[in-house]
Amino acid sequence: MLGWLRKRLCADLAIDLGTTSTRIGMPGEGIRLDEPSVVAIVRSGQRVAGRGTAVGKLAAQMLGRTPEGIQAVRPLRHGVIHDFELCEIMLRYFLSKALGNTRGFRPRVLISVPGGISAVERRAVFNSAERAGAGRIWLIDDSRAAGIGAGLPVSEPLASMVCDIGGGTTDVAVLSLADVVATQSIRTAGDVMDDAIVRWMRRRYSLRIGELTAEHVKTSIGSAAPLEHELTQEISGLDTASGIPRKSLVTSEEVREALSEPLMEIVEAIRRTIERCQPELIADLADTGLVLTGGGAMLRGIDRFLSQHLGIPVRIAESPRTAVTRGAMICLDHLDRWRSGLDDGLRVA
Ligand SMILES: Nc1ncnc2c1ncn2[C@@H]1O[C@H](COP(=O)(O)OP(=O)(O)OP(=O)(O)O)[C@@H](O)[C@H]1O
Ligand SMILES: [Mg+2]
Repeated sequence: MLGWLRKRLCADLAIDLGTTSTRIGMPGEGIRLDEPSVVAIVRSGQRVAGRGTAVGKLAAQMLGRTPEGIQAVRPLRHGVIHDFELCEIMLRYFLSKALGNTRGFRPRVLISVPGGISAVERRAVFNSAERAGAGRIWLIDDSRAAGIGAGLPVSEPLASMVCDIGGGTTDVAVLSLADVVATQSIRTAGDVMDDAIVRWMRRRYSLRIGELTAEHVKTSIGSAAPLEHELTQEISGLDTASGIPRKSLVTSEEVREALSEPLMEIVEAIRRTIERCQPELIADLADTGLVLTGGGAMLRGIDRFLSQHLGIPVRIAESPRTAVTRGAMICLDHLDRWRSGLDDGLRVA
């Protein structure tokens, strides 16, 4: 079909179906939606709260402080669909919001998924998207989309490396000649960092805090490398011995200590990826270095930390949270060029 005619009849959407957030972009139009991957349901009857509208931003406001009888659920865990039905509801809601007034046939969608997921988990994404209203569906690996979105020279005969640190997974890949040469996907990412802070607060201060508080601590004073001016924050929680609410003053050095284990696991995943490459490609990486994408790339000093441990240059992509979506938008825009590397559900990409 003629390109222009097809574009008028059916929209193209790039979907980053993330554990923490879902972002949808339309080639030529930019990012149309960026909302938390959360659905709030009424416990009795499993209906979506707010007469079907408690999805995304509205549902996220309910996380951790839901009124009785309502439960806020994240349908994805570690980048894979955990609750199929809710994922479909969420996707349908997001698709219609992203499409807005755009009319036409079912949209063609390109969805990014973590590299390490199984064939069954991939199939669940296809089915969920199809039932949510998508027409043609392709999948792309998070790290490949991230590399393209971050502007790496992925098609050149030169190795470049990307590490996407999301909420549920960290995806590392070395790319060359438009192909993934080596890749690793681990389940250590933002959520595990939050857990590490929860556990650390309990051990060190006998203070019980929730995951949302831990995430807040991480984003407001968390760091991977020493800061010029170290920070402090007062944290409220429940004293584990007395069960009474209490406050503690926590420093950025302490949070860094709490985050050291998950951060070292990310270093090891990157090391393992590099070790799988040919010596010539490893030599390239010493020059081209590593680019960081995903929300985790915004942790203070993570570029310095990784550079020190890996001995290669590390830089943070521009707008790291949306790099995957932008990469998927580029692929959709130049589908003829990228199609062979995508999973269309008929064969293994
Ligand atoms: N300033 C910050 N410092 C540290 N972490 C941050 C910061 N901002 C966001 N994050 C973390 O980034 C993570 C979300 O990143 P992102 O939106 O890339 O994940 P996702 O794509 O939804 O998840 P995944 O790719 O794993 O499925 C969360 O864990 C969040 O706490
Ligand atoms: Mg992601």
